[in-house]
Amino acid sequence: MDRYTSVARALHWILAVLIIVNLVLGIGHDALPKDWAVMPVHKSIGLTVLALTLARLAWRVGHRPPSLPSAMPVWEKAAAHATHGVFYAFMILVPLTGWIMTSAGTRPLNWFFLFDVPKFAVTKGDAIVGLSSEGHEVMGFAWVALIIVHIAAALRHHVVLKDNVLRRMM
Ligand code: HEM
Repeated sequence: MDRYTSVARALHWILAVLIIVNLVLGIGHDALPKDWAVMPVHKSIGLTVLALTLARLAWRVGHRPPSLPSAMPVWEKAAAHATHGVFYAFMILVPLTGWIMTSAGTRPLNWFFLFDVPKFAVTKGDAIVGLSSEGHEVMGFAWVALIIVHIAAALRHHVVLKDNVLRRMM
């Protein structure tokens, strides 16, 4: 079967888990116990997502994904490519906007308490900080909707159309 490389599959599922966990932590941080270090963990996971996304993109340049089934209508192929494009944009822009807004705060930024992460040279009043804060929230909620569409589309291929679109990522 024509499938994704083992590196692409591993990165897909690791990133899927990290992104979903981070959406839950981001949206639920006010409701979660204060002594759980929710936000330091959220920031560390987010920075990991950014690093792994750069690795994924580098890998993708050298290893093209298998082509979609030839029977798939052109509009569906276009929709799939567009969704994947937006995912890559969010995988970069959401962590980056979080990093920018955190840089304007006074709290230290580190990676799982192991080492410090440098901050951008921005302060609270900067337009980029306000824009990042808005963008982080809007893209975060849009991402939830997109993930639901992505999972529904994958399940439709597997259960209804019975093609190999989901299996080639397993
Ligand atoms: C995959 C990566 C990430 C996802 C999916 C994500 C998602 C979210 C979401 C959905 C929220 C809630 C938005 C709201 O209700 O205002 C949030 C809040 C937040 N995120 Fe992220 N985030 C990610 C990465 C990061 C990174 C890398 C940082 C910082 C280094 C960060 C810092 C923050 C902060 C400080 C808040 C709280 C804003 C507030 O309510 O005061 N995030 N995140």
